[in-house]
Amino acid sequence: MFERKIEIHRDEAFEGLEAARQYAEAAQKSTRRYMAFLERLEALSIEGRYLDVGAGPGILTSLVAEKFPWVEITALELSEAMVSMGQDYITHHGLEGQINFVTGDAADEEFIQSLGKFDLIFSTYTLHHWEHPRKVIDNLVTMLADDGLLFLYDLRRVWWMYWVPVNNGFFKSIRGAYVQSEIEELLQDIPSECYDIKHEFPFMVSVFIRRPVS
Ligand SMILES: C[S@@+](CC[C@H](N)C(=O)[O-])C[C@H]1O[C@@H](n2cnc3c(N)ncnc32)[C@H](O)[C@@H]1O
Repeated sequence: MFERKIEIHRDEAFEGLEAARQYAEAAQKSTRRYMAFLERLEALSIEGRYLDVGAGPGILTSLVAEKFPWVEITALELSEAMVSMGQDYITHHGLEGQINFVTGDAADEEFIQSLGKFDLIFSTYTLHHWEHPRKVIDNLVTMLADDGLLFLYDLRRVWWMYWVPVNNGFFKSIRGAYVQSEIEELLQDIPSECYDIKHEFPFMVSVFIRRPVS
């Protein structure tokens, strides 16, 4: 029963303007979902270039830009519909000078390397959507500047979610998310001193990864 249910990948397509619009509307209505992440980011106090992977319609990207006006952010997104929504959103908020939206796949090594190096690479609510998570993680780790940090913030599968009689997209996402042992398995071969996994109440997880010293 507690198995990872990944129908989410089929049910919740981010392709198409209508799906992107609906996601953007929900994200704008409940920016609370980003608050714990923003607090963590503030505590990290990282200067320089940021990369937001799977930026969606750029709601969180904009919150980060407004909170840290001195950083430069590249917002990478697979879905053209999301990028289009995101570009409109950042222009409306006067953030086009600080955020650069690009369309592309984080699993595409050649493309992603062309974006350069980053002091902070973050990704919110996307880990459980990645078709090739380890490939994406490996790509992102190589894009870290010296002392750079990869910060993945996502939902975490919790057993009691299977007893909640709700089946909307959000609850499906939780059932499609990873538990700690699965994340550890994903990160196998990365030295344990290079990563840290922290549970966040009630069903979130933060994963911090640094580049192994070669
Ligand atoms: C649940 S949304 C999260 C959006 C945003 N990060 C947020 O927190 O609101 C996941 C996003 O990841 C994008 N995505 C999934 N796989 C990707 C990949 N391989 N490369 C880039 N973006 C990807 C999807 O298109 C989608 O917009």
